Amino acid sequence: MSFQPDLSIELCGLTLKKPLVLASGVMGTSATLLKRVALGGAGAVTAKSCGPVARAGHPNPVMVDWGHGLLNAIGLTNPGAEEEVDLLAAAREVLAPLGVPLFASIFAGTEEEFAQVAGVIAGAKPALIEVNISCPNVRDDFGTPFAAIPETAAAVTRAVKGAVGDIPIAVKLAPNVPDIGRIAAAVVGGRGGCDHGSEHYAGYGD
Ligand SMILES: Cc1cc2nc3c(=O)[nH]c(=O)nc-3n(C[C@H](O)[C@H](O)[C@H](O)COP(=O)(O)O)c2cc1C
Repeated sequence: MSFQPDLSIELCGLTLKKPLVLASGVMGTSATLLKRVALGGAGAVTAKSCGPVARAGHPNPVMVDWGHGLLNAIGLTNPGAEEEVDLLAAAREVLAPLGVPLFASIFAGTEEEFAQVAGVIAGAKPALIEVNISCPNVRDDFGTPFAAIPETAAAVTRAVKGAVGDIPIAVKLAPNVPDIGRIAAAVVGGRGGCDHGSEHYAGYGD
């Protein structure tokens, strides 16, 4: 029998059997895909971000090979929060026997919308809700990214926290700010009440 080291970690009160988490993206668009990633060894999986209403996203091509890597801009394609609840419920069902927690991911254009989307998504009882405040690569739809200003980042965090009951939240920050530490302190500290801050590294996509 081969030795299996214990790689488990604690995250926001959850136990992950392995320290790898699927980032929000195209592999998080169906229960089948999420299950496939879980079977591949993820400790938790994150669904693709959803917003208040359905968005078709950008027209193709949404990915380009520029010779040294890939650049993408999907345009926050999603079915809207109400539909997403069904997707999350189906995903939870297939992930539960595998012991792999499901993280939801949300975005919105205002604090109030963030709270509304969070409230709807909380109904699907994901293990954690990731708050995507770093990904408005959709022209000027949302104005200045929430992730660029400590006060707005904290305000979104508070709004979401107030809408999700005891579900832990993680705030996905943007790396392209002058001082990410200030933003992180604002969302995690007393001003925001976030349970976990995750940095959104370069390789930006939505
Ligand atoms: C095709 C694609 C779709 C993505 N969709 C989302 C999304 O819906 N929400 C989000 O927060 N991040 C999204 N991301 C960003 C990833 O979650 C991740 O933060 C980013 O790709 C950086 O990680 P990497 O360097 O490992 O790729 C997406 C990335 C890609 C490539």
